[in-house]
Amino acid sequence: MTVSPKSPDTAHRLSLLVCDGWADYALMDIGEGRRLERFGRLLVDRPEEQAMGKRQNPALWANADAVFQAQAGGIEGRWTMAGGGPAPERFPLSWDGLSFHGRFTAFRHMGFFPEQALHWHHIVNSVSALQSKGIDQPKLLNLFGYTGLASLVAARAGAHVTHVDASKRAIAHARDNQTMAGLDDKPIRWLIDDAVAFVARERRRGNSYHGIILDPPKFGRGPKGEEWELFDHLPAHLADCVELLAKDGAFMVLSAYAIRASALALDDLMHASFEGRGGAITSGELAIRTESGDRLLSTSLFSHWSV
Ligand SMILES: C[S@@+](CC[C@H](N)C(=O)[O-])C[C@H]1O[C@@H](n2cnc3c(N)ncnc32)[C@H](O)[C@@H]1O
Repeated sequence: MTVSPKSPDTAHRLSLLVCDGWADYALMDIGEGRRLERFGRLLVDRPEEQAMGKRQNPALWANADAVFQAQAGGIEGRWTMAGGGPAPERFPLSWDGLSFHGRFTAFRHMGFFPEQALHWHHIVNSVSALQSKGIDQPKLLNLFGYTGLASLVAARAGAHVTHVDASKRAIAHARDNQTMAGLDDKPIRWLIDDAVAFVARERRRGNSYHGIILDPPKFGRGPKGEEWELFDHLPAHLADCVELLAKDGAFMVLSAYAIRASALALDDLMHASFEGRGGAITSGELAIRTESGDRLLSTSLFSHWSV
């Protein structure tokens, strides 16, 4: 790679975050377009475009408890259970003592993204860094928050959380996780709203947050059908989010999945968005390490900012 003499460090801007499994999660093997994972006691076999190599432990795959087959040409599909019968609607899991439900969704997802455990650790550390600056109950905004694990982790760490998602169903699952985690008494506002409209309104009201987590999909819709398209809408939305960040200490966690973008593009946008705000930006790819320890599965792009 040619490095401009003006900025010799730009070639080293990207980081690789590697998520190892935990008691209730392990990436057992990858290959031939699929991933084999253990969720609690269940061995799950599902499609994975990034897994182009050979499988390391082919015999293990025969033990899968649940196998997802996509419908031809589509993202949706069906689960087949080893014992026959339908997939359970939900099943118990836990991360770092926080209980929640895994789910067999029609979109191959399990109701949460296990690699985000690295972001959860980062959120806990960021909340405690703010608390040690004297901000006892940091205000955190979780946009496109889905089933709420980042919100629950932050609330348990002592944050006051505002969780925004367009989907009634995702919010219902997030509330179910809150009860499952025994965190019903924690201050979390669950809002069914369009992330873009909510942030614009918060700006007009002059509100601010100490932490913003964004996990925008490539395409999405707000509750009134508002269109979200990552490439078109992220720059202005991110600029609005930056304006919402408190001046006395703040952090941001941005993720992007399955998009035709480079971590460099995300990093460049973050640098442009945070110009003049100081602080440090780390961007890169987030990968999961296989149980055997010698292979990595790329899952998403990320960018962290903090001051
Ligand atoms: C599943 S999560 C993110 C997962 C991951 N980034 C991915 O793309 O697979 C995306 C969440 O964004 C929500 N969402 C989509 N468009 C939205 C919008 N305009 N405002 C708020 N939430 C939205 C969806 O309901 C969903 O829960």
